[in-house]
Amino acid sequence: MFKTLPDSTAATVNVVINGTPFRAPAGATAAAALLLAGDLPVRTTPVSDSPRAPYCMMGVCFDCLAEIDGAPNQQACLVPVAEGMRINRQSGGVEAKP
Ligand code: FES
Repeated sequence: MFKTLPDSTAATVNVVINGTPFRAPAGATAAAALLLAGDLPVRTTPVSDSPRAPYCMMGVCFDCLAEIDGAPNQQACLVPVAEGMRINRQSGGVEAKP
């Protein structure tokens, strides 16, 4: 669905999306990596379990909430990818760990 512009010199980092290894462009956000991987939805809503995917890509809609490196409720569109990052789908409401 989404593709990066062709650039053979672009650096990449290795991330794991829902258990599957993926090479994401360095400097991209976790939400961009999820869209590039086509691994959607990113989360489901707490009340109706409706699927959601990144929409605004600027921290406004909260439709990109994901578990990143074990921390739930992370706005994936505001978190840059890092080597070894683990990004997981979030189902329903998840209480933040103290
Ligand atoms: S995509 Fe809207 S807050 Fe992240």
